[in-house]
Amino acid sequence: MKPPFSEIADRYNLINDCMSLGLHRRWKRCLVEALSTNGLKTDGKILDVASGTGDVASLFLTKTPASNIFAIDPCKEMMNEGKRKYPRLTQWYEGEAEALPFPENYFSILTCTFGIRNFKDRKLAFKEFSRTLVSGGKLGILEIHPIPHKWQFIPFQLFWKYGVPFWGRLFSRGRAYHYLRDTAAQFISPEVMIEELQPYFDVQQKKALIAGGLVTLLIANKR
Ligand SMILES: C[S@@+](CC[C@H](N)C(=O)[O-])C[C@H]1O[C@@H](n2cnc3c(N)ncnc32)[C@H](O)[C@@H]1O
Repeated sequence: MKPPFSEIADRYNLINDCMSLGLHRRWKRCLVEALSTNGLKTDGKILDVASGTGDVASLFLTKTPASNIFAIDPCKEMMNEGKRKYPRLTQWYEGEAEALPFPENYFSILTCTFGIRNFKDRKLAFKEFSRTLVSGGKLGILEIHPIPHKWQFIPFQLFWKYGVPFWGRLFSRGRAYHYLRDTAAQFISPEVMIEELQPYFDVQQKKALIAGGLVTLLIANKR
């Protein structure tokens, strides 16, 4: 089943706030801070892939001129919400991670939050991330992974199984959030993602942000 983001674009941020109790905002700030630790190059360009409504792209507005920030997503309705929310962000592109419409060695930083699960060809997308980043450029990923089978995470397992579809039914007749629950449960672990990134990236930081890695942050450098 395809994720029907176009159907929920106007409620996407509200649903995220409800389902994560607002924590997705903190996780996104955490990612941007991790990428900014040594300061951002003022002329370095930044790309947010699967940008959706532009939350992560917008967090760079306080750190670099808006002209350096690019957002790309295949869903027009999601981007229209982003354009309305963040009028200072002006560089929106319609397109997929597997075929980024940018030259080689163009970006200093590339981010992708909660997007990789939706890609048709993850390995091709990682190759594109590498192609468009400068050598030594930084990649920042936030993603949802299966919850480890340990007793201390049982409350999270229950929330994921029953709570997520409940919110989904309330806000979107369920489709998008049954999709979220099912794709996350079947998705690869952070360790497998690190292996898939290995041909192009050295992973510098891996941080489980909640429930032993349900949400995991990865920071990597292009080789
Ligand atoms: C869960 S949303 C994440 C949006 C945003 N990054 C955030 O963290 O709030 C996933 C996004 O991935 C986009 N997407 C789906 N397939 C894609 C692909 N092949 N390439 C790039 N983005 C894709 C969807 O349109 C959607 O906006």
